[in-house]
Amino acid sequence: MNEEVNVLVLAAGHGSRMKSSVPKVLHSVAGRAMIDWVIDAVKPLTDNKPVTVIGVGAESVAKHVGDHSEFVLQTKQLGTGHAVQQAQERLADKVGVTLIMSGDTPMFRSDTLAEFVKEHQKSNNAVTVLTAMADNPTGYGRIVRADDDTVLKIVEQKDASVTERRIQEINTGVYVFDNQLLFEALAQVKNNNAQGEYYLPDTLDILRKSGHQIGAHTLQDFTESLGVNDRVALSVANRVMYSRINHELMVSGVELMDSQNTYIDADVVIGQDTVVEGGVTILGHTVIGRDNLITSGSRISNSEIGDGNVITTSHIENTIIENNVTIGPYAHLRPDTILKDNVHIGNFVEVKQAMLAKNTKAGHLTYIGNAEVGSDVNVGAGTIFVNYDGVNKYHTKVGDNVFIGSNTKIVAPVTIENETITAAGSTITKDIPMHAMGIARSRQVNKADFWERMPHKEK
Ligand code: UD1
Ligand code: CA
Repeated sequence: MNEEVNVLVLAAGHGSRMKSSVPKVLHSVAGRAMIDWVIDAVKPLTDNKPVTVIGVGAESVAKHVGDHSEFVLQTKQLGTGHAVQQAQERLADKVGVTLIMSGDTPMFRSDTLAEFVKEHQKSNNAVTVLTAMADNPTGYGRIVRADDDTVLKIVEQKDASVTERRIQEINTGVYVFDNQLLFEALAQVKNNNAQGEYYLPDTLDILRKSGHQIGAHTLQDFTESLGVNDRVALSVANRVMYSRINHELMVSGVELMDSQNTYIDADVVIGQDTVVEGGVTILGHTVIGRDNLITSGSRISNSEIGDGNVITTSHIENTIIENNVTIGPYAHLRPDTILKDNVHIGNFVEVKQAMLAKNTKAGHLTYIGNAEVGSDVNVGAGTIFVNYDGVNKYHTKVGDNVFIGSNTKIVAPVTIENETITAAGSTITKDIPMHAMGIARSRQVNKADFWERMPHKEK
């Protein structure tokens, strides 16, 4: 009881069924790589760092996981049993139990795993396997039981007889082993099977035949055991995970108007009474406060949003929005935008690397880039901050209480001081001093009696 718990995560395989150049365990589910889900789920179980077996894409997997795990390398992917053997040097002398999981089963909850480990520790089993009942068990190893229900062995899909394929109880790929017996049994695993691989599940049959007790613990919720081998399963995993996240958000006081069509990543935080319509995607490390309304078609990533804002059908990336700001419809807020309290950004407005101070409004068809804009500024329709000469970006500074007339072009670098005006249609290339109006457009001339000189269509 309560022996030391070691954790081993298998993540060296090809993942060839994903048809991807990205290592399988780095594919994300609800914004987190599959391997992160697994490593996060085991964290509360033990103070020992998990050991991850890496191989295909070893460098990128190790880099991604960083110091959340130790690593051993499996240079040839000869099967799950062979993968575990690569950790022999690390683990074989440890007394206690070893929890083994795959890096491609992201759905397990921490509590489920903790309870499973406890069940094993209460038993006299040399190994306990976590099983589940699948409506469609295709692709999974099947649990073969004797007439008295004791577990005999696990048979892989490709090696299973027609009768065995009908078994609906599957191997979830999660096991707790007595650590010493694990490596004793692994030494006896052969690869004379349909895939020519050394199967970890074969250790159950080996341990049983050498007189040890083996057991199974059956999961209530099959979806927790989902193994992601291809994009179809990845899509199922995402659907289930997004609905789990949405459920938790709704319980915590967030209103999701069409929760089945709302995609909110695992690391997003949303405050009470914020209303999110259907068809909204909120990604990455976004933090959203209370009492906001976010309407359908909005896509928000890695942003910080305060309270009482209305975001209407807009795209927002790496942006900070304070409180009572209104945005959209169809606005695009690009990285390093900061909008202070009460700012209004209207339709077809793009902002990038710019700070807009409080009460400033840019209502229509505007581009603001590389700029600092003061408070209470009115940016007229069609204003363009001309910030790029094809090679370099230049900065614009606009003071407080400035009225920028419609269709102004502000050619940076330029400074427009407090309490100034730009005349509509101006191309501003020089600084405007306080209280001045900048006007830069040719004067209108009216040519009298011009009508007759125009060609006219026959009526
Ligand atoms: C495996 C189990 C199957 C179980 C299923 C649960 C075996 C032989 N089969 O099948 O009984 O129902 O998981 O999801 O164990 N890996 C390595 N090195 C290798 C081969 C695999 O590290 O040489 C890793 C993979 O990266 C993966 C995990 O082991 O994370 C499982 O391998 P995979 O090929 O996905 O096994 P399944 O066919 O899913
Ligand atoms: Ca798998």
